[in-house]
Amino acid sequence: MSEAIDPKHFRSVMGQVPTCVTVVTAIVDDAPVAMVIGSFVSISLDPPLAGFFCTTTSYTWQQLRTADALGVNVLSAEQVEVSNACMRELADRFDGLEWTVVDGAPKFAGTSAWIALSLREVIPAGDHELALCAVRRLEAPEPAASPLIFQGGTYRQLSSDQT
Ligand SMILES: Cc1cc2nc3c(=O)[nH]c(=O)nc-3n(C[C@H](O)[C@H](O)[C@H](O)COP(=O)(O)O)c2cc1C
Repeated sequence: MSEAIDPKHFRSVMGQVPTCVTVVTAIVDDAPVAMVIGSFVSISLDPPLAGFFCTTTSYTWQQLRTADALGVNVLSAEQVEVSNACMRELADRFDGLEWTVVDGAPKFAGTSAWIALSLREVIPAGDHELALCAVRRLEAPEPAASPLIFQGGTYRQLSSDQT
């Protein structure tokens, strides 16, 4: 039997798990929509699937799930300000940012990877939902750009390679 888990303890321990910082975007009713997502994950190669988890209370997720095309902007180490901008009020998130529509969704300049998705299925996962998506197209710059990491409640970047 599992012990009762204190929510603060859950957050504090899970906060030690490093995540990449992505911004999931879409065009909804002719307007750009963006949500910062740390739970983006590659799921399957054959067929190509990827996904992310959204809190059921998110208004932005309710917008994103109506879109035909979703874009995952994997932020590079220099893009903390893009993440911060996308945590503003919904209508202000794109202010001052450089972006274009690619594969039907907003793509920011300077990301470390871009993955174009179509939502396949929404799977309940406690107080979150898994957005299970088909991968339509993907690209990464050459040479590769270092990613932005979120860990221990703060943004970080990778410091060195290890073999
Ligand atoms: C680094 C970082 C990672 C995040 N990852 C997620 C995530 O995976 N799922 C989620 O639902 N919210 C995540 N959030 C929070 C949402 O981005 C934020 O609550 C959302 O944009 C609020 O939008 P809304 O309240 O307008 O729906 C993350 C926030 C940050 C700063």
